[in-house]
Amino acid sequence: MTERITIRKPDDWHLHVRDGAMLKAVMGFTARHFGRAIIMPNLVPPVTTIADALAYRERVMAALPEGSTFQPLMTCYLTDETDPDEVERGFADGVFTGVKLYPVGATTNSAAGVTDFEKIRPVLARMEKIGMRLLIHGEEAADPAVDVFDREAVFIEKRLEPMTKDYPGLRIVLEHLSSRIGVDYVRAKAPQIGGTITPYHTLLNRNHMLGSGIRPYYYCMPIVKREEDRRAVHDAAVSGEACFFLGTDSAPHPMAAKLAVVGCAGLFNAPVAIETYAKVFDEAGALDKFEAFASLNGPAHYGLAPNEDTITLERSPWTGPDEVKIDGPEDRALIYRAGETIEWRVVEG
Ligand code: NCD
Ligand code: ZN
Repeated sequence: MTERITIRKPDDWHLHVRDGAMLKAVMGFTARHFGRAIIMPNLVPPVTTIADALAYRERVMAALPEGSTFQPLMTCYLTDETDPDEVERGFADGVFTGVKLYPVGATTNSAAGVTDFEKIRPVLARMEKIGMRLLIHGEEAADPAVDVFDREAVFIEKRLEPMTKDYPGLRIVLEHLSSRIGVDYVRAKAPQIGGTITPYHTLLNRNHMLGSGIRPYYYCMPIVKREEDRRAVHDAAVSGEACFFLGTDSAPHPMAAKLAVVGCAGLFNAPVAIETYAKVFDEAGALDKFEAFASLNGPAHYGLAPNEDTITLERSPWTGPDEVKIDGPEDRALIYRAGETIEWRVVEG
């Protein structure tokens, strides 16, 4: 049995760190083990301009622990009004790594998202031309007739497939894959499309969320689905295939917002993320594929070099922390796998 593994330092290709006191409370968890992270732009108001992204990047950098070499990769929140020139300038200046597409209403802070897919055509055409990545929350949410468990499949058929035909040179990331259909689609469309996979979509199905008491802490978008879907996502992650890579979708919320009558979507997993992925690969007998998933496939899809540093994990159980305290009214955020035994531990890097 492997007891210790050293891999290139991983990156997180999908991360929410929020702002203000929450940002200060959570940033260190990612910075301690990850080299880079794609920072999601769904603040209120969203990060839609170069000036917004520069200011947000400053705040992220200010929240880093002393001496950290972590590098935030900023994204531009796509709206019906996004200006292709602003996107191109931000990319050329190294401010925007990619553009993030949220269909309106699909998830937390998506109210400013895309309502009319015709209106974003000039931006997509420009991105195709300059080689800039499009990151997609791939769920069809505006039509109330679409079942919440089918949103990913419907989005792929109705929006994504036509987009890949109209812009064959546009490189896309379909984020937080949650269904067998999604996984199969990415595989079929690689290398044009890559897909990120969260730790929790490899481990949870809807029975975990709803089968014995309702567990609002497992409520996230895309929603966890059938066991068949979980299995497909899990198998894709541990396959080591180049089109699948790490994106935690760690999304902290104040406890009161998670436990409200109308609770919000998002699962805060950064404090146990890399350790949880290690468990998944270990239990699948696939630790030899761990580095590809965590540290190589993502940079390759983005056209970036992998990190030079390494981290080492050891099988050495510890107990997952319950919560982080947040200064001010947000008070606290509960953490995924709180109180559970976490099998792996980062011992170096
Ligand atoms: C994310 C959040 O809270 O910002 N929530 C979630 O359920 N995953 C947004 C997102 O990535 O969908
Ligand atoms: Zn997210």
